[in-house]
Amino acid sequence: MKAGPDFDRKTKLLDDLRREMKEASLPPCESPQGLVFGEGQSAARLAIIGEAPGQQEAESGRPFVGRAGQLLRRTLAEAGIPLDQVWISNVVKCRPTAVQAGRVANRAPTTLEASLWTPWLIKELDILRPPLVLALGNLAAGVLIHKGFKMTEERGRWFPGPFASAVLATYHPSYVLRQTGPQGAIVRQRFRADLAAVAARLKPGPERYPA
Ligand code: URA
Repeated sequence: MKAGPDFDRKTKLLDDLRREMKEASLPPCESPQGLVFGEGQSAARLAIIGEAPGQQEAESGRPFVGRAGQLLRRTLAEAGIPLDQVWISNVVKCRPTAVQAGRVANRAPTTLEASLWTPWLIKELDILRPPLVLALGNLAAGVLIHKGFKMTEERGRWFPGPFASAVLATYHPSYVLRQTGPQGAIVRQRFRADLAAVAARLKPGPERYPA
């Protein structure tokens, strides 16, 4: 994707937003350094939104670089979605932690944390205005599609999303990694099929909801 006026304008606005977020430092951010902002192509036609950074993301300052991220990036590549043409981000921009057996572990964001971060995600999407959004897991689907989203019933379907986008939700890759045996095979196959459906819709043609 070539740089152009849209790319330059969005890149600047995203830089400004990142600075604004660092100053706001909402929970669970312990310091502005812990902020993991979205990354990728600012003129992307697809934004991929996860839940919250984990340890590797917090250490590197980049979203989806740990095991779940590797699965996501590999499956996107298999589906024919070029990584340099997407924007990857999270609802919550700081790693939520809990101490378990004396060790710092990841935990799911609280409802309050998710609701405090949601307006920032909306600002981010307002700048990006991607025609397509992929929501990973229930938290992102609940924010981007509707409250109480049910992955078992509603995954893999297109819904109207913010700023006239079309949003599809699939399993969070961490969930996919946790599934083993026959259930694991089914979940992995559905995850691949959902990303293939996104790839099909990314091809030139009508993108916004409804098709
Ligand atoms: N899980 C997420 O939801 N986001 C990340 O960036 C990494 C793991």
